[in-house]
Amino acid sequence: MTTDMSTRVGALSLANPILTASGTFGYGLDLADLCPPERLGGIVTKGLSPQPRRGNTPPRIVETAAGMINAIGLQNIGVEAFCRDVLPELDARGVTVVVNVFGESPAAYREVMARCERERGVAAYELNVSCPNVSAGGMEFGHDPALLASLTAACRAETAKPLWVKLSPNAPDLIGTGKAAVDGGADALTLINTLRAMAIDAVQRRPVLQRGFGGLSGPAIKPIALRMVWEVHWALPSTPLVGIGGIETGRDVAEFLLAGASAVQVGTAVFRDPAAPLRILGELERFCAGEGITAVGELIGGLQWPC
Ligand SMILES: Cc1cc2nc3c(=O)[nH]c(=O)nc-3n(C[C@H](O)[C@H](O)[C@H](O)COP(=O)(O)O)c2cc1C
Repeated sequence: MTTDMSTRVGALSLANPILTASGTFGYGLDLADLCPPERLGGIVTKGLSPQPRRGNTPPRIVETAAGMINAIGLQNIGVEAFCRDVLPELDARGVTVVVNVFGESPAAYREVMARCERERGVAAYELNVSCPNVSAGGMEFGHDPALLASLTAACRAETAKPLWVKLSPNAPDLIGTGKAAVDGGADALTLINTLRAMAIDAVQRRPVLQRGFGGLSGPAIKPIALRMVWEVHWALPSTPLVGIGGIETGRDVAEFLLAGASAVQVGTAVFRDPAAPLRILGELERFCAGEGITAVGELIGGLQWPC
């Protein structure tokens, strides 16, 4: 039995529910020999800013018991180099490309999007709102509902394409920020980004990461991500969700779909196995076949609780 693996995130149709997570699959071509991006539902680019950024000084990654902590510092090649050197090949290969955008002001987000709007090959935008708004004294966009609503509205004005807002699990009011993003014009919510964390070297008596803190990802965060996807699905049942956090197997994907996600992203798993997104897709297909599921969409929001 074959299962129809196609899904939709709002107006965006995807061949299957597996995308790569921002920051873990480069710009979509780096690992293409091992994991052809055109066979996935899509890729989400490394976060792009108007100008290239070098990121933080190493060490900026540390492995933990069930995942990793990173403090990369949003290193990227800048939107111009992406549009010139990468996007045309992604487009030629038929990859569904979601551009992840960040900035220290609404104008910076808009600048990235305006540059991409001049090209073909972008399917949707995802706003990373876990970065500080310089003009608001460093407050993260994703932590303040009013700030987030106005940022989303500013970005909404820049494009007619699907606009996803990626929520921070560190925000004091997850549902409030989700609602604010939808009020500002978001078509879908992505969740979750990394959880603020630290690692300590007991001999050196110093934090392992040069910046002190970083973001925890990997299997350790999966139960938290599932809970958050479910809570937001419950609070905003008509808003499409994209689930992320510690996904390593096809069965993990089924759990996120049941919690209410219409698609998922695979991140940290790629560091151990660059072909993980394709392997996970195969596992999901076999899971569906084994369960007698004719279309993967049957799983979305199908959790039998609360009755
Ligand atoms: C090394 C690394 C870099 C990341 N860079 C970004 C980024 O640029 N923008 C973003 O929105 N999320 C970024 N993330 C967060 C991931 O996209 C994802 O939300 C998070 O890692 C949880 O998924 P996972 O447990 O499958 O890795 C990064 C994560 C890692 C591990």
